[in-house]
Amino acid sequence: MLKARIASRWTMLVPTLTIGLGAAFSLVHCGSDEDAQPGTNGGDASTTSCATDGGTTVVTGDAGSPVDSGTIALDPIQANAQKMITEGRQTFRFDTFGDEAFWGDTLHLHDAIKGSAKGGVGPGLKPTDALGAGLKVDVDALPTAVVDSLKAGKVDLTSVDTTLLLLQANAVVGVKGIFDSTGAMTSIGINCSLCHSSVDDSLAPGVGHRLDGWANRDLNVGAIIAMAPNLTPVDTLLGAPDATVRAVLNAWGPGKFNAGLFIDGKALGPDGGAPDMAASLIPPAFGLAGVNLATWTGFGSATYWNAFVANLEMHGQGTFIDSRLSNATDYPVAAANNLGNVRHTPDLITSKLGALEVYQLAIPAPTPPAGSFDATAAARGETVFEGAGKCASCHVAPLFTEPGYNMHTGAEIAIDDFQSDRSPEKRYRTAPLRGLFSHAKGGFYHDGRFATLTDVVDHYNVGQSLGLTSGQESDLVEYLKSL
Ligand code: HEC
Ligand code: HEC
Repeated sequence: MLKARIASRWTMLVPTLTIGLGAAFSLVHCGSDEDAQPGTNGGDASTTSCATDGGTTVVTGDAGSPVDSGTIALDPIQANAQKMITEGRQTFRFDTFGDEAFWGDTLHLHDAIKGSAKGGVGPGLKPTDALGAGLKVDVDALPTAVVDSLKAGKVDLTSVDTTLLLLQANAVVGVKGIFDSTGAMTSIGINCSLCHSSVDDSLAPGVGHRLDGWANRDLNVGAIIAMAPNLTPVDTLLGAPDATVRAVLNAWGPGKFNAGLFIDGKALGPDGGAPDMAASLIPPAFGLAGVNLATWTGFGSATYWNAFVANLEMHGQGTFIDSRLSNATDYPVAAANNLGNVRHTPDLITSKLGALEVYQLAIPAPTPPAGSFDATAAARGETVFEGAGKCASCHVAPLFTEPGYNMHTGAEIAIDDFQSDRSPEKRYRTAPLRGLFSHAKGGFYHDGRFATLTDVVDHYNVGQSLGLTSGQESDLVEYLKSL
C-alpha cells in the first residue's frame, strides 16, 4: 500500500522522464522513502540497488553494464540516468552535507526546539508554531498509527514532544534532527528541501505528500534562524551586534532569504530600505532544464549555485571555489573570510553535485490545476505574449527564458539595479515562467515587489510603453496562469 503510493508519487514527480526515456522507467521505482536512512550525511546512495515489488532486481547501481529490468534491459546511459535521479533525490531531500556542525553544534538551534524541559533552552517549539513558521510535514514518513491519530485529531499539536516525535520520524521536510540512543535530541541539520519543497496538504494544512522543487513561500527562514540561542558566528561574520542581526533576520518574512548577506554584508534594501527588500523570494527548483544561468541574478548555473548554497549558506562541509568572491569591493565579507576558496576534509558535497543537478533538472514544472484559469482568454493572451506585449523577446517558449544569454539590466525591465549589482553578472535573469501558480504567494519579481500577475503586466505596459488595452492585459494574465 505504502509502496504503491510511493511508486505513484515517483511517477508523478518525474513524468517527463517516463515519457522521455522510454517505458522502462515506468517499470522501476527506486529509492523510496523507506530506503532513506539519512545518517550524518543523509545516506550514501552509492550503494543504490532496488527491486520491484516482485523482487526482480532492476538496477545494480553500476552504470557500466546493461541492467536487467526484468523485462527490458536499460542501456548504460539510461541506467546511469536512473541511478543519478535516485541519488540526487536522496541528496536533495535528506542530505545535510555535515551542516549539523553549524546549525546544531554551533548555533544550538536544536536546544531552542526541544526546550528547557528536555535540557535545551526556552519553551521549545510546538507543532502549531512549527507549522506557523511554514515548516511542512511529510505524511509518508509517518508511521500509519500516527497518520490515523492525526486524522482522528488525536495528536497533541501543542506539545513539544510531538515536534520531537515528528523529527525523530524524519517527517519535518528539510530538517534533520539528530538523536542519541536514549532518544535525546543532540543536534540538527538542514537539507535543500527545507526551502525548495512543499507538501500537497493532503492530510491537513502543512501536512501531506512531498512536492519536490516547489518554493516554500510559507517558510519564515529568518525567524527560524533567529530562534538559535547562539548567533555569535553570524554576528562575527557580519561584524554586527547580536540584536541587529536578529532584527534583520526577523524582518525578512515568509518565503524570503538574503543569500547575498553572507558574502556582501548588505542587510538593508535599496537606499537603506527595509531588510526584506534586500532579501529574495525563494524561487522554485523545478522547470530548470534548458535554463542557462540560475538564480534571480544569474550567479551561475544550477550546479554552481548548489555548491555555493551547500557550502556558504547551509554551512555544509565541502569545497567551493569562486575567485570572483575575492573582490573586496563587491564582496567584503567573502573576501575577508576567504569564502571564494573553501575546502573541507572530508568533502561531503562535491561528490554529490552531479546527481543533485541531474535530479533538479529532471523535476518538471507542475501543471496548473484544472479550472484555475480561463482557457479561452489564455489562448488570446498567448497572442499578446508573442505579439503586442513583446514578452517573447525575452521569455522564449517553451523555456520562457532566453535560449542563450538570459540576463538583463534593471533598466531593460524598468526596475532598480540594487539586487542585480550584488551579482557578478550585474544583471537580472529572465525568470522561467512555468508553474507561476505554485509560487504566487509572496508576489513576483526577485523581491516580491509585484503582489499579483496583474501588477507585473501593468508594470510592463507602463515601463515598456506597450499600449495594451485592459482586455489584452487580463488575457495576458490568464495566459501566465496557464503556464
Ligand atoms: C534557506 C533556504 C534555502 C535553502 C536551504 C536552499 N535554497 Fe536554493 N535558493 C534559495 C533562495 C532564496 C534562492 C534565490 C537566491 C537569489 O537569487 O538570490 C535560491 C535559489 C536556488 C536555485 C536557483 C533557481 C532558479 O530559478 O534559477 C537553485 C537551483 C537552488 N536554489 C537549489 C538549491 C539546492 C540544490 C539546495 C541544497 C543544496 C538549496 N537550494 C538550498 C533558498 C534556499
Ligand atoms: C527585456 C526582457 C524581458 C521582457 C521583454 C519581459 N520580461 Fe518578464 N522578466 C524579465 C526578467 C529579467 C525578469 C526577472 C525580474 C526579477 O528578477 O526581479 C522577469 C520576470 C517576469 C515575471 C515574474 C516571474 C516570477 O517568478 O516572479 C513575470 C510574470 C514576467 N516576467 C512576465 C512577463 C510578461 C507578461 C512580459 C510581457 C508583457 C515580460 N515578462 C516581458 C525579462 C523580461
